[in-house]
Amino acid sequence: MSLSPHDETGSEVRLRDAVTLKTLRRMAERGEKFACLAAYDATTARWLERGGVHVLLAGDSAAQVVLGHERTIDAPIGFLVQITAALKRGAPRTLVMADMPFMSYHASVEAAMENAGRFMRDGLADVVKLEADASFGALVDRMTRAGIPVCAHIGYRPQTTAVLGGPTAQGRTEDAMEALVDDAVALEAAGAVLLLVEAVPPEVTRRIVEATSVPVIGIGAGTDCHGQILVVHDLLGLTDQTPRFAEPVDAIGERIKEAGAEWTARVARDQIGGSRYTMRETGPSAGPASGAARASNTDR
Ligand code: KIV
Repeated sequence: MSLSPHDETGSEVRLRDAVTLKTLRRMAERGEKFACLAAYDATTARWLERGGVHVLLAGDSAAQVVLGHERTIDAPIGFLVQITAALKRGAPRTLVMADMPFMSYHASVEAAMENAGRFMRDGLADVVKLEADASFGALVDRMTRAGIPVCAHIGYRPQTTAVLGGPTAQGRTEDAMEALVDDAVALEAAGAVLLLVEAVPPEVTRRIVEATSVPVIGIGAGTDCHGQILVVHDLLGLTDQTPRFAEPVDAIGERIKEAGAEWTARVARDQIGGSRYTMRETGPSAGPASGAARASNTDR
């Protein structure tokens, strides 16, 4: 009996090869763009992998879109470790990147190494992401030598928003552009396996791609990078204020609202759907509680 998954017509589904850093390097060399999304749970990850997305990031944006905070710096490390592992369980053939949250890699090298190790072991991460400039080179080098692949997030770094005085695009003068290119070169030299560039003019991205040789992921950084990333909520149309660089492919927020309204109306009419449990004459006195056997339809 074949253990391969089948689709609804009974045909065998060919699973794609797992996406690794080698895959991304190969794609970058061939000029094939790779797709990345920040996502936060196993179910969404499973569907995104089926859609062909190459990289999933357990982003600290979870603080905002999942936990309802105003700022990404409010993302708790334990929560991010958990959602990183959830992404990997939901999408085992996708490269999963873990965002190291605010102050998890700043207080000391020892704490940073411990926390990165936690993302690799408990979080099942393939890569950890740090918001960095050239001054983080020594830390990136230390992690790399320990076997922890690092993505260096440069340009606008949301964890520094308080210092900037608000979200601010970066690299908009010649000097600022040169400084960002220097950061990128220094971080690659320190061992960064990926760069992620946020909120810079396309000219800056182009210069960074020319000056470095690792795959570069962009967000609000134009199309000259090797991969693109968005927050999945912005892509799905779940965000009230979509950022200027994102274009939703759907309006799932509206659809959830409609589904909520429909369910409310059905409940009011006692039209709850499904089928009812029946009494048994012999055997166990109670069937499984709702949700107790999610995987087994026959028990439910
Ligand atoms: O936390 C996040 O969502 C990010 C973005 C770059 C997508 O870091």
